[in-house]
Amino acid sequence: PRKNLTTSNHLRHVESMAHLPSGAGRITRLNALILGDALASEEDDLVFPSEVLSTQAHVSSPQKYLEMYQRSVHDPSGFWSDIASEFYWREKWGQQVYHENFDVRKGKIKIEWFKGGMTNICYNCLDRNIESGKGDKTAIYWEGNEPGLDSSMTYNQLLARVCQLANYLKDVGVHKGDAVVIYLPMLMELPIAMLACARIGAIHSVVFAGFSAESLAQRIIDCRPKVVITCNAVRRGSKIIYLKEIVDSALLESAQKGIVTDVCLTYENESAMKKEMTKWTKGRDIWWQDVILKYPVTCDVEWVDAEDPLFLLYTSGSTGKPKGVLHTTGGYMVYTATTFKYAFDYKPTDIYWCTADCGWITGHSYVTYGPLLNGATVVVFEGAPNYPDVGRCWDIVDKYKVSIFYTAPTLVRSLMREGDEHVSRYSRKSLRVLGSVGEPINPSAWRWFFNVIGDARCPISDTWWQTETGGFMITPLPGAWPQKPGSATFPFFGVQPVIVDEKGVEIEGECSGYLCVKSSWPGAFRTLHGDHERYETTYFSAFPGYYFSGDGCSRDKDGYYWLTGRVDDVINVSGHRIGTAEVESALVSHPQCAEAAVVGVEHEVKGQGIYAFVTIVEGVPYSDDLRKSLVMVVRNQRLTRYIGHQVFQRREVGK
Ligand code: WT7
Repeated sequence: PRKNLTTSNHLRHVESMAHLPSGAGRITRLNALILGDALASEEDDLVFPSEVLSTQAHVSSPQKYLEMYQRSVHDPSGFWSDIASEFYWREKWGQQVYHENFDVRKGKIKIEWFKGGMTNICYNCLDRNIESGKGDKTAIYWEGNEPGLDSSMTYNQLLARVCQLANYLKDVGVHKGDAVVIYLPMLMELPIAMLACARIGAIHSVVFAGFSAESLAQRIIDCRPKVVITCNAVRRGSKIIYLKEIVDSALLESAQKGIVTDVCLTYENESAMKKEMTKWTKGRDIWWQDVILKYPVTCDVEWVDAEDPLFLLYTSGSTGKPKGVLHTTGGYMVYTATTFKYAFDYKPTDIYWCTADCGWITGHSYVTYGPLLNGATVVVFEGAPNYPDVGRCWDIVDKYKVSIFYTAPTLVRSLMREGDEHVSRYSRKSLRVLGSVGEPINPSAWRWFFNVIGDARCPISDTWWQTETGGFMITPLPGAWPQKPGSATFPFFGVQPVIVDEKGVEIEGECSGYLCVKSSWPGAFRTLHGDHERYETTYFSAFPGYYFSGDGCSRDKDGYYWLTGRVDDVINVSGHRIGTAEVESALVSHPQCAEAAVVGVEHEVKGQGIYAFVTIVEGVPYSDDLRKSLVMVVRNQRLTRYIGHQVFQRREVGK
């Protein structure tokens, strides 16, 4: 059992909630929902799950949660090994289920879960589910950018495709522990590529296919992949993005720095661009379709230690250099599967759609691994939510009978502006549970999501977590307790959040401060690639003894947690993390920019926008053209899309 365990504040409140006399049992829209924003205090606005949803939920009451939560923190070894035993382990983990040093003052930070256990996450996603009879169940519904362009794949078919690619990768010399960079849009080939790497013990590093050539090159240089996997082009909305050209320049740039990639495996995405039009480097570039089909549809699994690396995913920090967040196999597997099951109250009949791209952690944990580990049917969408019109999401929900829909507040707010009629013309009656992630969801967007999208029927799981945490940390469990619009509610099993003041002292009760975590959980990241020191200084040194999230947070009188946004030099634009230093260094690379200081400003749809103060080189007049070229310099060094002009045009970039 853990030492120093205080009954944390939220527990007392959940306890008292267990005795709430009424409410649970009806969709009580309460005065709050009727009065809307005129509500006296958001904190008093309770939204109860329906009785049907509650009784059938995995966690059906505050009492049940309390029991499980108490066990998870008093006996983490017992709690997590019971869950881990549901997966296939070639060899069981050692005597000690987990090992942690969370305190920089006591030496190197170290987190290990299920060490000594031998497993494979791809095997657990595919083979294990097939063996239990799910081979003919649909694993993926793929919806293309153009309505009408779609396909699907069963678990059996997915396994065959994964094995073919895995065999190819082995053939070109990818071994256990080697890195593979994946720069693909939301085609089925993206999860296939991730799983193929996992099957052979290779470390995948997915780079969001909206990142610029410079960003891609930076990541390639950092992780030195044997193979880069991409496609020639993709259509998103009415635009075509020539991904292969971006990869070409990234590979050129990295080669100039001495990092040579031998193989660039390129998928021909025919609907966007023909093979013949694609620029080709003989000897290095290989067409996916030319080689993969020749390989066998079975492939032996590489059994790996629970602590062997599964993937690297780069994220922004407060300096210019992106951080390679490293996740390992066993703990991540157990944690993503469990959080997915409970936070969405997943049932085998559900059809699940998460709008995130696999280029972000949300796509890793909750498009690929979490759902597939549960044997779920997942919708993978290639396109844009406003193409061909702003009703596209609900068109997809109706088409596939989506029952769990997980998205970001920025999408909710942008659709909210378009009006309810684009929603109400679709049925959406398959929806059961909604989810939100990426940034705090403001109460008015929450209510619109709840009332209009979910017809006041579906609980919203507002999941707070991070690239670093691997999976959900603070999240509602649908059916377990009433929600408060805008609050992520209570911690997930095994998570001990604390709020500390600026001196690092834990504050009890109703308070605000810095959000930290007191002990490890299985899905925690283990290091930053090649820079364990930065890992310790960034996350464990600000408040010794704790993991510091970088977020501000308050806890209300009922023990509910309310995330208030980043307190470090990170800006959250549409749920995407951008370091101020990254933008500043891009700006000062412009020959006419002498100095730059970047801050986040409130933005109606994106949550935050980027505001840059620049000092222009002596004698150069400020003009609109100069402003535009400053914007371009930032865009080119970071993202090719998403971080658009709009952000900058809101206000003038002045002297
Ligand atoms: C940062 C992590 C986790 C997947 C998506 C982003 C913010 C995330 C919430 C939420 C309030 C949230 C935090 C966090 N954030 N989810 N439900 N409520 N804030 O992953 O890029 O690693 O960003 O996103 O500020 O620190 P990420």
